Amino acid sequence: ASTGAGSKVRDITLADFGRKEINLAEVEMPGLMACRAEAGDSKPLAGARISGSLHMTVQTAVLIETLHHLGADLRWCSCNIFSTQDHAAAAVAAAGTSAVFAWKGESLEEYWECTLNAVTWPEADEKGTGMDIIVDDGGDMTLLIHEGVKAEKAYEKDGTLPDPSSTTNAEFKLILTIIARELPKTPHKWRDIAARCVGVSEETTTGVHRLIQMAKNGELLFPGINVNDSVTKSKFDNLYGCKHSLPDGIMRATDVMLAGKRAVVAGFGDVGKGCAQALKAAGCVVYVTEVDPICALQACMEGFRVLRLESVVAEADIFITTTGNKDIITVDSMHKMKNNAIVGNIGHFDNEIDMAGVEGFPGIVRENIKPQVDRFVFPDTGRGVIILAEGRLLNLGCATGHPSFVMSASFTNQTLAQIELWTKRGTGAYEHGKVYVLPKHLDEKVARLHLEKLGAELTELSKEQADYINVKVEGPYKPETYRY
Ligand code: NAI
Repeated sequence: ASTGAGSKVRDITLADFGRKEINLAEVEMPGLMACRAEAGDSKPLAGARISGSLHMTVQTAVLIETLHHLGADLRWCSCNIFSTQDHAAAAVAAAGTSAVFAWKGESLEEYWECTLNAVTWPEADEKGTGMDIIVDDGGDMTLLIHEGVKAEKAYEKDGTLPDPSSTTNAEFKLILTIIARELPKTPHKWRDIAARCVGVSEETTTGVHRLIQMAKNGELLFPGINVNDSVTKSKFDNLYGCKHSLPDGIMRATDVMLAGKRAVVAGFGDVGKGCAQALKAAGCVVYVTEVDPICALQACMEGFRVLRLESVVAEADIFITTTGNKDIITVDSMHKMKNNAIVGNIGHFDNEIDMAGVEGFPGIVRENIKPQVDRFVFPDTGRGVIILAEGRLLNLGCATGHPSFVMSASFTNQTLAQIELWTKRGTGAYEHGKVYVLPKHLDEKVARLHLEKLGAELTELSKEQADYINVKVEGPYKPETYRY
């Protein structure tokens, strides 16, 4: 096993503190602890090398150690440069349950080196240096592998290496640079990795969009399990998780009084719904922007004003993007905002806010207040906007992300997905190039595992009642079309 050897973390002496918080988190993560108990000594993931690219937090540490308990050999990186909790990374590295390549405040170059490290085992086995299964959040690890395969094919055909100057996208430049550097040394590495990979389980909406796009284009080289669309993931983590961690991030970053403020939430999907509810509960006057008439109508019926950004841009105090889409808040919009308006994003990528535009605004002055909090002052108006976590997801950048209990539901889905992919490998249950959701009985199981902790008593159907509504006594209780 690779264990923690070779890990790169900020400060290994934080391990004791990390362990204490992991111990607290375990009590709040009944789903993951039940997975450990249920498996006992049976080690369903024995023989599997797992690479993870998912925020290296205390909660993720409990996931990693669950997968380790189930028999996996692990390497891990974060999926965001600001989201690592250094004490959690240190605790996992010190315990040797996974090799960890993650620290808070990575540069983008370091970020991609960490991702490369997490997929590359120091010792090759008969299948090479790669992993058997991926846990991805946002799809960056999957992307790196697929870009590597494309580059290898071109290199083999006519000896051309990928050209980083061929793209204006800064992150893509870095991916191509790494691939070009490694290619001549290991010209078959990415194809070996893709060939041994029995699948990826993807955590978030944005990563699932990417996977489905690749599957549609016939480019996806292994099966995917869409964990996000388990009901016990997106209707809990995206909703209640963000409801908790959005105000936490804003308050830790700025200490601003929320009550009475005017807040704009862009997007009223699962994340937007949680954010809007939290801000309303904190006493904000909440405006919502939407493109989808169904979500817009839902927002209206919840009592939110649905407006276009332009209509409130000069009056609102707080702007939060939750769309998973790009170019939501432009530099022109920020230029019109009140002095010290707060701008933050909780969607997966930073392109919801035009950071390049604001950084490149002629004469702009950047005042760093503290890590992950910057005030950008426009020279012509003298007004500043406070941007959180450089436009990256602020709940993980400025606070500690979602609390353990809700992550237990998400990560129990991840664990079940990893077990599915590994134990059913070679059976044809999960076909290459296709994206699946977990069956409903497993979704219901995840929920069931979290009820006791909350003191809930679940009513049982009688046989007669079950027959009457045409379900089994033990479930599933709803048709696939049910929307919860
Ligand atoms: P969703 O698809 O349910 O919601 C996004 C909403 O934004 C949709 O209703 C869509 O119509 C709307 N939208 C799209 N373009 C828009 C525009 N130009 N203006 C206004 N609204 C627009 O997606 P979900 O699950 O809410 O996720 C949103 C993002 O948050 C994704 O990037 C996801 O990966 C990320 N996420 C972040 C979490 C965190 O902890 N920070 C947790 C879970 C998800």
